[in-house]
Amino acid sequence: MKYIETERLILREWTLKDVGDQVEGLSNFETAKNLTVPFPYTEKNSIEYITKHLKNDANSYAFAVQLKGTEKVIGGTSLDLREGEYNGGIWLNEKYTGKGYGTEVWMARAKFAFEVLKADKLENGYFEFNNRSKHMQEKIGHKTVGKSQKFCPALNRDVVEVLTRLTKTDFYEALQSTKLQAVYDKIKILKPKVD
Ligand SMILES: CC(C)(COP(=O)(O)OP(=O)(O)OC[C@H]1O[C@@H](n2cnc3c(N)ncnc32)[C@H](O)[C@@H]1OP(=O)(O)O)[C@@H](O)C(=O)NCCC(=O)NCCS
Repeated sequence: MKYIETERLILREWTLKDVGDQVEGLSNFETAKNLTVPFPYTEKNSIEYITKHLKNDANSYAFAVQLKGTEKVIGGTSLDLREGEYNGGIWLNEKYTGKGYGTEVWMARAKFAFEVLKADKLENGYFEFNNRSKHMQEKIGHKTVGKSQKFCPALNRDVVEVLTRLTKTDFYEALQSTKLQAVYDKIKILKPKVD
């Protein structure tokens, strides 16, 4: 089921056909060191994750990120409601980073959360050495709200996580940038909610 379309990407539900692409993306150390996914990331891990997230529900959205015009899944993103707060993450296959896809996905996720789910803020974070994620988040309006520690399986140690928050107001303020507004204008919500 397709949920969101951006200029170059489709955000849709996962299917078991995506196992190969998910393993390709997440078994890479350079990607996994920024995440809390199991490492090494195996086919078994992928089958477990996808089986759990085959259907979205009102408290948990998981999207495979597919490159338009192809069947290729280049990443994933999620949006979970826990104790009244929206959390979740994003990853892209390293081969597809640095081309603006992350910003497209992250903005699509925010638009869905604010306009469809009526969230007023999103809670996130990034490991303190992850300057790319920091930059991507700050660009669309995330503000630092604290610090925490998380275990990173790929690094096999605790890592300092910078905690961030994106309010609806800060997101729409960030859209004053013409470049971001152009990305935002091309984001189409195809399926508003779970039935
Ligand atoms: C983080 C991630 C989703 C970003 O996606 P992406 O497609 O690479 O990001 P984009 O190309 O949209 O934007 C990245 C921005 O960071 C900038 N950037 C790249 N490397 C950087 C660095 N080392 N320091 C600071 N900024 C950097 C880019 O110039 C770009 O900014 P611009 O649009 O103003 O030019 C992706 O790199 C990824 O999946 N990384 C591995 C997993 C991960 O870190 N997930 C997030 C966990 S919090």
